[in-house]
Amino acid sequence: MLLRENGSSIAHAAVVQRQLLHGELPIRTGYVEAVAVRRDRRREGHGRAVMAEAERVIAAAYDLGALSTGLEGFYERTGWERWLGPTYVLAPSGLTRTDEDDGGVLVLRTPTSPDLDLTGPLACDWRYGDVW
Ligand SMILES: CC(C)(COP(=O)(O)OP(=O)(O)OC[C@H]1O[C@@H](n2cnc3c(N)ncnc32)[C@H](O)[C@@H]1OP(=O)(O)O)[C@@H](O)C(=O)NCCC(=O)NCCS
Repeated sequence: MLLRENGSSIAHAAVVQRQLLHGELPIRTGYVEAVAVRRDRRREGHGRAVMAEAERVIAAAYDLGALSTGLEGFYERTGWERWLGPTYVLAPSGLTRTDEDDGGVLVLRTPTSPDLDLTGPLACDWRYGDVW
């Protein structure tokens, strides 16, 4: 999602498909990344606007939304919930704890979400760089 005004970019958010594992249950997930608003245009509702579009895509196409952030409040006001349980990554070497990400992972339920225990384990699929 890219919001442009007079040919220049103001705000951006991306939804990428990932697979999360809740216990042994794989969940087809729309993972939100690269949420940013141009510095001089913040607090004008543009962040909310690109997130509203990301949330629409997630609700239409995925069984869960997820993201990792240090700005929980920005997302919680529109229904994102903090994952309270331990986080992991399904690394090439096996299931590995990502305790530095605990508390910073948020999820958004969709009409097709399975039952979730927010205090249970949640693992993301492997990738290079920041896994969450
Ligand atoms: C976070 C960010 C995307 C918000 O975009 P924005 O366009 O300023 O947000 P909006 O104007 O749509 O704000 C909507 C509401 O979210 C809340 N909010 C906005 N920025 C916030 C922040 N930094 N922390 C907590 N809440 C915030 C506000 O309550 C705001 O409501 P208000 O108008 O009553 O103040 C923007 O500040 C940004 O690009 N920050 C740097 C990059 C970043 O941190 N991205 C998030 C990575 S997960």
